[in-house]
Amino acid sequence: MLIPVDLGSRSYTIAVECGALAMVGDHLRPLGLGGKAVLVSDAAIRRLYGTRVAESLTTAGFSVTELDVPEGEPAKSLAVAERCWDALLSAGIDRTSTVLALGGGAVGDLAGFVAATYMRGVNFVQLPTTVLAQVDASIGGKTAIDHPRAKNLIGSFHQPRLVVVDPATIGSLPEREYRSGLAEMVKHGCVLDAGYFDDMERSAAALLGRDLGHVERLIAGSCRLKARVVEQDERDAELRNVLNYGHTIGHALEAASEYQRWTHGEAVALGIVAEARLAHRLGEATADTVARQRALLEALGLPTRIEGVDPAVVLAAIKRDKKARDGRIPFVLAPEIGRFRLVTDVKDDDVLAALGA
Ligand code: GLY
Repeated sequence: MLIPVDLGSRSYTIAVECGALAMVGDHLRPLGLGGKAVLVSDAAIRRLYGTRVAESLTTAGFSVTELDVPEGEPAKSLAVAERCWDALLSAGIDRTSTVLALGGGAVGDLAGFVAATYMRGVNFVQLPTTVLAQVDASIGGKTAIDHPRAKNLIGSFHQPRLVVVDPATIGSLPEREYRSGLAEMVKHGCVLDAGYFDDMERSAAALLGRDLGHVERLIAGSCRLKARVVEQDERDAELRNVLNYGHTIGHALEAASEYQRWTHGEAVALGIVAEARLAHRLGEATADTVARQRALLEALGLPTRIEGVDPAVVLAAIKRDKKARDGRIPFVLAPEIGRFRLVTDVKDDDVLAALGA
């Protein structure tokens, strides 16, 4: 399935298909880019998928340099970015060349940042191998490294030239990581598309069982929803905030627990439940709308009860969110499944009640 992302001169295609990692070269060649490619990955992902991607690039006529970075969030540091710039220079990478990120969201964020900054920007391709990266992080051109005091603080928008999503890679994901990615798909349904949410409800058992037919259809659906938002608000001016549903409280839960207790997706699941409750408390959503969101997350094996954190600590973390504007925190609410409303005037007591209810 080919999903266009229409951004004028920065347009690109998301190719979603089981087995697509063996066809990266075929997708890349028609773009008419230079002959040098750098494949950025971590050692574990490279062992699983590196050979098939490198071979497909070589067969398509590219010369490939492979570059390993640390696994997970430690990849997103200035020191690692500097090592990558050095490696690109040594490999003779120029503005016609392409940096490809093979792996989860962290590899994509780092490699995108390196591609955005080296020589003021070289071609970039996303090859996401986690559900979270496939339906969210790889689409839309957000790139970043972490600052010691805040995640994703240093970065830029740099759209990829191509995204290749191979849903068969979910076969190698640990159960907890797989389920965590499903939370971002639920998010898309909650605020963007009631029909998609219904489909997820009907397919929950198949998703949990990793039935590839259902997984491919729903991952593609989620990519399409994200693409439509990015097309309308490439630079995160307003509408793109809708993708923050469940994240205002989710990010704060992660920060308040020092990123130890929940995965990002688990924190987003808890954030969705709390923000759904907030909408109900503010008279925006019915109890049934809240219950459906909680039930779907539970059916997908995600946590829905916020326990063991002090709501006041979470509220303090919300106030430090980099999306805060003049001290006011923007929240996305879902008045009905598939619809959203952005609000900025939520009172502390209502947030505390949603967290503690
Ligand atoms: N992950 C949220 C966004 O891409 O805007």
